[in-house]
Amino acid sequence: MEALRQDAQRLAPELVAVRRDLHRHPELGFQEVRTAGVVAKTLTGLGLEVTTGVAKTGVVALLETGKPGPTILVRFDMDALPIQEQNTVDYASQTPGVMHACGHDAHVAIGLGVARLLSAHREELRGRVKFMFQPAEEGLGGAEKMIQEGVLENPRPDYALSMHVWNEKPVGWVGIKSGALMAGADSFRILIEGKGGHGAIPHQTADPVYAMAQIITALQSIVSRNVSPLETAVISVGSVRAGEAHNIIPQTAEILGTVRTYSDEVRELVLNRLCTIAEGVAQSLGCRATVKINDVTPAVINDKKVAQIVQSAAAKVLPEMTNDTSCQTMASEDMAYVLREIPGCYFFVGSANPEKGLSFAHHHPRFDIDEEVLWRSVAIMSAAVMELVWSE
Ligand code: NI
Repeated sequence: MEALRQDAQRLAPELVAVRRDLHRHPELGFQEVRTAGVVAKTLTGLGLEVTTGVAKTGVVALLETGKPGPTILVRFDMDALPIQEQNTVDYASQTPGVMHACGHDAHVAIGLGVARLLSAHREELRGRVKFMFQPAEEGLGGAEKMIQEGVLENPRPDYALSMHVWNEKPVGWVGIKSGALMAGADSFRILIEGKGGHGAIPHQTADPVYAMAQIITALQSIVSRNVSPLETAVISVGSVRAGEAHNIIPQTAEILGTVRTYSDEVRELVLNRLCTIAEGVAQSLGCRATVKINDVTPAVINDKKVAQIVQSAAAKVLPEMTNDTSCQTMASEDMAYVLREIPGCYFFVGSANPEKGLSFAHHHPRFDIDEEVLWRSVAIMSAAVMELVWSE
């Protein structure tokens, strides 16, 4: 473990260079052509068996030790966001309107670092390590598409690992937890149809704007009155659309929002209540509501045994890190689709440094990380793979 740590630390300058190059050249979901090229070239150079074009721009690579043992999948996402970067660093995005504002540039650099480190330590491994460089994590379904195209077959992984740099916490913090880690997400659209008319003659209308307002208010009763206080759920309305003019009651109104939950039972309860409330309130006001639910991502649930192994590996390779075993977030992550099929662990590695001004939240136009997180993440991920292959 000590050798692994020292070798990871030695990779630091290279990891920073790779991350900055990717940061300069961000690419949106399913358009990661240049990024995938960098990934494929590096992995081929390491002698891995590389497959490109999985789910358009995804890359899969196999590190085969030739010794019998389990297959460990390690997954890293590659896409950027449609955000105009406001940082003025010399490695700022050179593509207008596109930015690595979630840290997936760091993930690619870390993934390539893990491949390099584990290749160098191939003799100490057994089984095989399957690298999954995934496109389009940001709401476009990259993981699901890679699964449809066979990333979990031939060979089928026994365990799966993935991580996120985490600007909510400082460098030196790591969040490895068993059980529910990130919420499942559903999006909803409520269309309210009423009867339009003159704003000055409301009694001859069925006002969908008024119904919309009542529905939005009533939706918050689901979390406060229906979900058990010991459970967790979020309902947020993010978009409302209705009408064009100040004196016309429109014909329709529309509400868009998101639901986040950790369990199937709570999810079902929330979605059922959402439909009942929308339809019932609209009807009581002379309107008609139609609810459309779109399931975006299931919850990220970590396997207990794998999470324990990752915790133990992290403690061995980076004993100075603080492990937060109770961290949880209502954010979502499409690695959930992999973890639904393969026992595994998704974890966070603290990447903020308020003293250096590096603590803007993910998806903020000034998001940036303390690059000290890079080699540390490589060390933890590599150590976790090493522990896992020898765990059975
Ligand atoms: Ni992200």
